[in-house]
Amino acid sequence: MSLMLKSIVSVALLLHASAAAPTSARSDKKCRVCGVSSAEIVLTGSTLPTPSFAPTFIGLGVGTQNYTCESTGTYTNVGALAELFDASCLYGTSSFTDLSSLAFRAWNASATSDVFESEAIISAARVITSPSESTLGQHYFVTNPVTGTGLSPKWDFTSNAFAGNPAAFVVGSKIDDVTAPSDTASNIDWLYLTNLTGALANEIYRIDTQGGQPPASCIPGSAEIFVKYTAMYWLTGGSF
Ligand SMILES: *[C@@H]1O[C@H](CO)[C@@H](O)[C@H](O)[C@H]1NC(C)=O
Ligand SMILES: *[C@@H]1O[C@H](CO)[C@@H](O)[C@H](O)[C@H]1NC(C)=O
Ligand SMILES: *[C@@H]1O[C@H](CO)[C@@H](O)[C@H](O)[C@H]1NC(C)=O
Repeated sequence: MSLMLKSIVSVALLLHASAAAPTSARSDKKCRVCGVSSAEIVLTGSTLPTPSFAPTFIGLGVGTQNYTCESTGTYTNVGALAELFDASCLYGTSSFTDLSSLAFRAWNASATSDVFESEAIISAARVITSPSESTLGQHYFVTNPVTGTGLSPKWDFTSNAFAGNPAAFVVGSKIDDVTAPSDTASNIDWLYLTNLTGALANEIYRIDTQGGQPPASCIPGSAEIFVKYTAMYWLTGGSF
């Protein structure tokens, strides 16, 4: 085992050791998500609206934000790709509030930038979040399903938490976007979205962001870049 992998795994094990055993497994669901309907989202330091629906999923997102260099010499966001790990069973434990920053430290220190090829990160995150069945799904961008132009963010649980159920997704429409409460040069904005299509959630929050910001300037013509980030994604409402 490499030194790096060892340290990622030991951070993960430490985290897991301090987590209480899940108490409220959802018996009505195929996935082993703990019930989070009474979990309270902490929006301190941001002006995002409070949720109108009860939380249904809390995921740790580990991935990249993608940017291309404009002719003006600045980067523009052109999408993202992240793996979403179930964090619901950690809610209420001491690990929960630090999850995004601990995961970011491990992810940012790893040599690979492909989250799907990074077994070290995926297995570490699995250990962090819960011992098994802990991948909720993926977050990526698709063509806006309503207008047919431009990209929209999608949260897709059809391959993992609700494998085989083609309805287990939501495409979001961004309602609110505020700077992160700290280190805005490194940490991407916090977001509030509602469902444009899909019944997985009525609202989506991206909070506790770590990393993901591009350099302040670029040389026009340079290649697309992939900037590592982590965040907590809270989904509320929905019919799952
Ligand atoms: C974003 O980057 C990832 C690589 O990390 C890539 O797989 C994905 O297709 C990219 N998405 C977009 C919309 O550019
Ligand atoms: C990520 O790691 C690099 C070193 O590989 C470091 O320069 C950078 O500051 C780190 N990013 C953040 C946001 O901590
Ligand atoms: C949003 O999600 C709710 C709850 O699942 C669903 O009833 C509604 O149809 C969805 N809205 C759209 C536009 O898909």
